[in-house]
Amino acid sequence: MIYLDNAATTLKKPESVIDAVVSALRTMGNSSRGTHESSLATSRTVFETRMKIAEFFGARGPENVAFTMNSTEALNIAIRGLVREGDHVITTEMEHNSVLRPLYHLLKDKVISLSILKADKNGVIDPADISGLIRPNTRMLVTTHSSNLTGNMVDIAEVAEIAHENGLIYIVDASQTAGCKPIDVEKMGIDVLCFTGHKGLLGPQGTGGLVIGSRIAEAEEGSGSYLRPFKMGGTGVQSYSKLQPSELPTRLEAGTLNGHGIAGLDAALDFINEVGIDAIDKKEQSLMNRFLEGVRTIEGVTVYGDFGNPRTAIVSLNIWDWDSGQVSDILSMDYDIATRPGAHCAPLMHKALGTVSQGAVRFSFSYFNTEEEIDFAVKAVRDIAEDR
Ligand code: ALA
Repeated sequence: MIYLDNAATTLKKPESVIDAVVSALRTMGNSSRGTHESSLATSRTVFETRMKIAEFFGARGPENVAFTMNSTEALNIAIRGLVREGDHVITTEMEHNSVLRPLYHLLKDKVISLSILKADKNGVIDPADISGLIRPNTRMLVTTHSSNLTGNMVDIAEVAEIAHENGLIYIVDASQTAGCKPIDVEKMGIDVLCFTGHKGLLGPQGTGGLVIGSRIAEAEEGSGSYLRPFKMGGTGVQSYSKLQPSELPTRLEAGTLNGHGIAGLDAALDFINEVGIDAIDKKEQSLMNRFLEGVRTIEGVTVYGDFGNPRTAIVSLNIWDWDSGQVSDILSMDYDIATRPGAHCAPLMHKALGTVSQGAVRFSFSYFNTEEEIDFAVKAVRDIAEDR
């Protein structure tokens, strides 16, 4: 199979990640739940991974990293934990439902009011438009770092500056960029970064987390920037306390962690650090450009998005006016090429692009794809488009 659905999840993982998960399945006890060697060794792996994540994303320290099962869970924790009744929140049309749905629920329950920054016909937002949406009760800005449909990126350092000038909390959804693009929470001024482990980070599904910027980490309980716990339960510490411990990261983690997955994530971080994130990005961009140049001139092909600015390695397209699901099925069944069609959990982005009824066929590339695979995929698109 030629796997070009890496924006959904990376299928090919480094062998070291697979080995680490298998070894963890054979050896791991419960982190922070005992003094026997298998528990202590697991605690050490979890701590080591926290340290690596903190360093990778420029956090102050390992206590500023809380593990979750994916970025959706991290976003729910960040949004619910920081929002207050009566707040106004600003987000964008580039968002995935992992941002939109938590906000729509808060809106429906009359906890917040919501403004959504418009994207242009290429699916791009202009951060300068944010200022016009700010109200006296605006507390929070939530944006993706890169659209999962078009690959277009948001200049998060610029948005962070606007947020901070106006005293707003800034939450970033890094689902599509973690592991593919350099991110430094402190230098970029991000308050909470939500990431997943199973896409660009090349780790197992069921891993992810929050990286908490110093402003939020240092906020006093009761203050407007205090990140309240969202999940409550066993932590292995302070068992006689009725309430969730307030220390980070325990405040945000409850129940047994995915130690097996975290062991895989640990190995994945080693792999990325060894290869280098710039080398990974360069290879992915080169594969994307090769594909783009191959398909963009084929008669009947419409490509979506802005290709003149920094982006992640995604090309979404349609062929004639054909249903994207049918095209994706043909790619899968006749060419053994895996893509993702339909709505991609990004309803507002499809509205902005005018692709609500047709959807789009998304090709997304990884460090492990090859030029031969790209050329074969281009040929497949050409064959399908010509076969009218
Ligand atoms: N959010 C993932 C995607 O874009 C699953 O496909």
